[in-house]
Amino acid sequence: MSITALSTNGLVESNGGPSQTLSFEETVRTRRSFRQFLPTPVPDAQILQVLEDAQRSPSNCNTQPWNTHIVSGERIAGLGRLLTAENEAQRFTPDFTFDMECFYGAYGERRRAHGKTFYEAMGVAREDRAGRDKASASNYSFFGAPHAALLFMPSFGDNVRVAGDIGMYGQTFLLSLAARGLGGIPQTSIGFFAQTIREYLGISDELKLMFAISFGYPDYSAPVNGIRMGRVPVSESVTFHR
Ligand SMILES: Cc1cc2nc3c(=O)[nH]c(=O)nc-3n(C[C@H](O)[C@H](O)[C@H](O)COP(=O)(O)O)c2cc1C
Repeated sequence: MSITALSTNGLVESNGGPSQTLSFEETVRTRRSFRQFLPTPVPDAQILQVLEDAQRSPSNCNTQPWNTHIVSGERIAGLGRLLTAENEAQRFTPDFTFDMECFYGAYGERRRAHGKTFYEAMGVAREDRAGRDKASASNYSFFGAPHAALLFMPSFGDNVRVAGDIGMYGQTFLLSLAARGLGGIPQTSIGFFAQTIREYLGISDELKLMFAISFGYPDYSAPVNGIRMGRVPVSESVTFHR
């Protein structure tokens, strides 16, 4: 692995010299969730740059609670096979609950709109249960990505603060990928097999799995990667008090 450092012009330098990154605006606008990747591995030096960026994330009292495990090569291939089998057997071992039915009102509507956009892009009809299960099962082969970052965290109290910190870290990680011409997808679904993953990688029970980020070079020819999820206008999310 190479050592990275910020050069005076702000570009990140690695062993190979300065590497260009997108502007902030380009980065935020081009980032999106990719669900099909090329098998080509990302060089270690570039993964380290992304990790260095993510390490700059803010956290409550600067506790930096992220404990990141990167799986690649044989380890991700084996884990993909294991999670696919566990998913087929419905043997879930999550650390945290996730009930999509709890999204009420406008949030529930947005969730349904998201599902419609997603399955339409995949060519899966609403009533095609088997097709939807198959599409969702591709989460467990990490969408063909050559790497995944598993975002583990210690457990403190009701975990709200630490979960927020992990979210901050995850977004910095995703934006760093985008700025460097890479792509990723955050995946709560990987967390449904937290205990299975701890046993597979030999990780302490003290650490809880919040979500994973599969990442690599996006396969831009895959129709699923053409999805552009919309956003409600700022006026629906923000209230100004003057
Ligand atoms: C914490 C988190 C977990 C997510 N988990 C999954 C997942 O398990 N599977 C999946 O296909 N997408 C997952 N997503 C991706 C969301 O569906 C996606 O971010 C959202 O639809 C907006 O689309 P965009 O990221 O392309 O802008 C997750 C997103 C976040 C922030």
